[in-house]
Amino acid sequence: NVWNLIETLYKDQTLEKEELVFLLEHRDEETASCLGELARKEAQKIYGNKVFPRGLIEFTNYCKNNCYYCGIQASNRNISRYRLSQEQILSACQNGYDLGYRSFVLQGGEDPYFSDERMVPVVEAIHESFPDCAITLSLGERSLESYQKLHAAGGRRYLLRHEAISPRLYGKLHPEKMSLRHRIQCLYDLRTAGFQVGTGFMVGAPFQTLENLADDLLFIQKLHPQMTGIGPFVPHHDTRFRDFAAGTAELTIFLISILRLMDHHLLLPSTTALGTIDPSGREKGILAGANVVMPNLSPTDVRKDYALYDNKICTGEEAAECIGCLSQRVESIGYQLEFSQGNYRP
Ligand code: 5AD
Ligand code: FES
Repeated sequence: NVWNLIETLYKDQTLEKEELVFLLEHRDEETASCLGELARKEAQKIYGNKVFPRGLIEFTNYCKNNCYYCGIQASNRNISRYRLSQEQILSACQNGYDLGYRSFVLQGGEDPYFSDERMVPVVEAIHESFPDCAITLSLGERSLESYQKLHAAGGRRYLLRHEAISPRLYGKLHPEKMSLRHRIQCLYDLRTAGFQVGTGFMVGAPFQTLENLADDLLFIQKLHPQMTGIGPFVPHHDTRFRDFAAGTAELTIFLISILRLMDHHLLLPSTTALGTIDPSGREKGILAGANVVMPNLSPTDVRKDYALYDNKICTGEEAAECIGCLSQRVESIGYQLEFSQGNYRP
């Protein structure tokens, strides 16, 4: 039964696929709160009651891809496209640095404008200006050579969600010319290039089954990344998935706990999407084993244009407001923001 499975997961840090599906199928409030408590304790043993903030800079919303769920897909003509200049990116970092951030995430759509020739100098400039900060990149699929150059420029971590390890589901979420095999190859290339790697997936994506989720969890266990970002699918009004229901906070939080119990050391964000579908979603995520938050550092005038999904929180707030808001939120549940690089603890 479910309680035996929770015990096995806690002891062995893994379950068979069928067991994971059973656990997901039979979850309820009681099992969730038990898993959450176990997961929280394991996170605290390694990371204490600390939550690491990473300043997110969404530097381009141009994208050549057409992921069916995503609001900034190339075919969306209803958004205004922007690219931040190197100066704007550096000043967003400076703003973050002055607020205490020592960890930055540079994220964008897959924008061919940011070739290695253009991207490498940006990373170098951040690395030189803020040598005591950790730089995470999230630029999508690139070549191994490109990853090597970005690593040499000072990038140390890279986020690339695998999105779905089932070829069938991956194919339902992406146009034919996007390849799951290439995406997975990129994750291994990133590691070859020396990056600490982050992957992840959406919860409650259209057509996703509990079996798909079990496969995703087991893939992550096999990949053994340093970070895993999961958040609920949230529909965007300009996409073909506009009428699908959003994923739930409840399932997202349950999966956060399972991920934590499968890998006690993982850097696990309590995502903005989770905070979007539930006003106290991020707090609940932390209480269920998450230990990272990624507040926005992008200039406020472009934030609304980086809408991957509808009703995204914090698009009107200044960076300083988000810090105030978040530190209150984490303190309300007995945690503290730790403004460090927030390194993975092996
Ligand atoms: N809802 C939730 N998450 C989304 N992402 C993209 N579009 C959506 C959406 N509609 C996620 C993807 C991507 C990450 C940057 O944002 O998983 O990897
Ligand atoms: Fe941005 Fe709460 S984190 S307003």
